[in-house]
Amino acid sequence: LPVQYLLAIESSCDETAAAVIDDTLNVRSNIVASQDALHQRFGGVVPEIASRAHVERIMPVIDEALRQADVTLQQLSGIAVVTEPGLVGSLLVGLTAGKTLAWLLDVPLVAVNHIEAHLFACRMAAGRDIFPAVGLVVSGGHSNVYNCRSETDLELLGSTIDDAAGEAFDKVASLLGLPYPGGPSIQRAAENGDPQAFRFPRSFIRDDEIRFSFSGLKTAVLYEAQGIPGRNEQPPDLTPQRIADIAASFQEAVVDVLVAKVQLAVRKLGHRTVCLGGGVAANGRLRERLQQAADENGFELVIAPRELCTDNAAMAAIGWKLLQEGRTAPLDLDVTPGLVR
Ligand code: KG4
Ligand code: ZN
Repeated sequence: LPVQYLLAIESSCDETAAAVIDDTLNVRSNIVASQDALHQRFGGVVPEIASRAHVERIMPVIDEALRQADVTLQQLSGIAVVTEPGLVGSLLVGLTAGKTLAWLLDVPLVAVNHIEAHLFACRMAAGRDIFPAVGLVVSGGHSNVYNCRSETDLELLGSTIDDAAGEAFDKVASLLGLPYPGGPSIQRAAENGDPQAFRFPRSFIRDDEIRFSFSGLKTAVLYEAQGIPGRNEQPPDLTPQRIADIAASFQEAVVDVLVAKVQLAVRKLGHRTVCLGGGVAANGRLRERLQQAADENGFELVIAPRELCTDNAAMAAIGWKLLQEGRTAPLDLDVTPGLVR
């Protein structure tokens, strides 16, 4: 049988991405146009700026993905496009491009869930079936724990009651005057810091429920960085060492609760495998601590390489699964911005 190619498109947040993946899940190209520079001065993603930038970039990014894969439009067997969850204006740009190409080329269109795609990146990295597994998706928009029965059958076990883990990294970085996106900045600053310097709150860490809260932690950081409002005190001097210590202590607090809840889910479900996806999965300390927990507790940890953790289109290769299951989408397909599962 000749090799078949899938074009995958991802534009759910602030990365414009396209990839070509063959039917053996080989990534032939993986192009990500980051908008970090556009959102930097706002300390977070501005939806209207994001969707406008997607409009400018989507066609060049698709062209580049095809060029690097050395594949023509006519060779494509299908189009996979991320349609949920995400920013509505951003999602619509990718969907419109995907629909147009599917209609023009008369190939099937499949709708990909961004969260499922993040966890599918682990399946791709493993090169074999990894399910059933506990799945943790930690990104700018989500901190979700799943019972993954298969790549397309996820049950949400719990999530955050306020900020997402990545959002906390971004906000704390902004409080400390570190550049956006906050995750990589905090990780870098933390390298020179003492993770025990500040004892920050670890919400829900000991209870028996799978849930997260990061807003108390964020406030605790605010007080250490800028002083307690209303108190007639000179705010502490934010020296590079103090910034590093706060960053390291904050990172340790986030990692502590994420590791604890993964272990809780492993105990509750009895799965032997844990997979980790989303931008925060690129965090070195989290990867290290989860690996330790895996070694101590006898579960297997599967994490994608860093470039497949942050948003990308290669992970939308889960579209091959959907195609095989005959789950193609009609051309009047719409986006679903909210998290449904
Ligand atoms: O998955 P992703 O690229 O986009 C969303 O779906 O949200 O995740 C982006 C988030 C941002 O909040 C960013 O600060 C965080 O992932 N992030 C990290 C690291 N790299 C990216 N957080 C902690 N450590 C990192 N190394
Ligand atoms: Zn994501």
